[in-house]
Amino acid sequence: MDQFSAEACANIALIKYMGKSSQVDNLPANPSISMRLDYLKTKVVLQKNSNSNINNWKPLKENEWQLLNLDESAQRKFLSFFEVLQKKFGDENKWDIYSANNFPSDCGLASSASSFAALTQAALQAFQKTLSLEEMSKLSRLGSGSSCRSFFKWALWNDDGAEEIISPWPDLMHFAVVVSKAKKKISSSQAHKMVTSSPQYENRPDRAIERARYLTKIITAPLSEQDWARAYQIIYSEFEDMHTLFETCKEAFSYKTKETLEVLQYLKKQWMNLKDGPLVTMDAGPNIHLIYRKNQSMMVSDFQEKFGKKYQIIRSG
Ligand code: DP6
Repeated sequence: MDQFSAEACANIALIKYMGKSSQVDNLPANPSISMRLDYLKTKVVLQKNSNSNINNWKPLKENEWQLLNLDESAQRKFLSFFEVLQKKFGDENKWDIYSANNFPSDCGLASSASSFAALTQAALQAFQKTLSLEEMSKLSRLGSGSSCRSFFKWALWNDDGAEEIISPWPDLMHFAVVVSKAKKKISSSQAHKMVTSSPQYENRPDRAIERARYLTKIITAPLSEQDWARAYQIIYSEFEDMHTLFETCKEAFSYKTKETLEVLQYLKKQWMNLKDGPLVTMDAGPNIHLIYRKNQSMMVSDFQEKFGKKYQIIRSG
């Protein structure tokens, strides 16, 4: 067979991977925890091309998959990871690599986790290798660190690959509030390097380890009102911690815009007044991720009413 395809999902980090102990191998400086976003997907198709002497990336054109425009450096990162896999498994063919997401590529949502996890799986099919989820996670990490968490619904990534956290929590709803679609001036790969010059970086692993331990305890127990509020506190301090690293490193920068701050302010107030609200986090960008329980539909409609006309909201279910 000359064609292979695979799909994989994005994930959102609740404890963040920021800073690497090895830049080459994408080994993290601290543990991270994520929830998979099963509705945000990438599809990768590999087509053998005997007429080419190089591998090529091309946008996948299929119904329901949105046309992707990967810039040069993203294409290079994707192709060079594929070549690492080829070398590892002794494949000398040349391939056209097609990919697309089922969400818009200009919406500021990172698709690297889903892309690299899908590429890993498609490549293994092409090379006729069957690996466990843990082994696939380790391989995928070499392409882009955060992709190693996309193999599990709830993932803990501590070392060279992620493992599953078994959680009794019910299915949650995810919202990405897109306050800006502008291309980021600093990519997350650059941010990983820059944060190391922050005076707060030295103790960063200790803080992340502590939060990861606490959050694991919470999400492995049945969901209670109290634990939801605790999870909110941990997850909020965690993304603020990461953003403080950006804002205090040598060439300090910030992803937050006044729109970001307005939304965060609203959510903080809501939590203060109602002692309830969504879990709130941000990645290396200006957009805000919200995680709601299914019985918070009133809060969801209030949020939509206030911000739904102003900003694009990408949401599950
Ligand atoms: C802020 O996985 O994109 O989203 O390993 O260099 O490809 P590379 O970095 P990447 O970093 C993601 C950083 C983050 C936090 C997270 O997802 O944990």
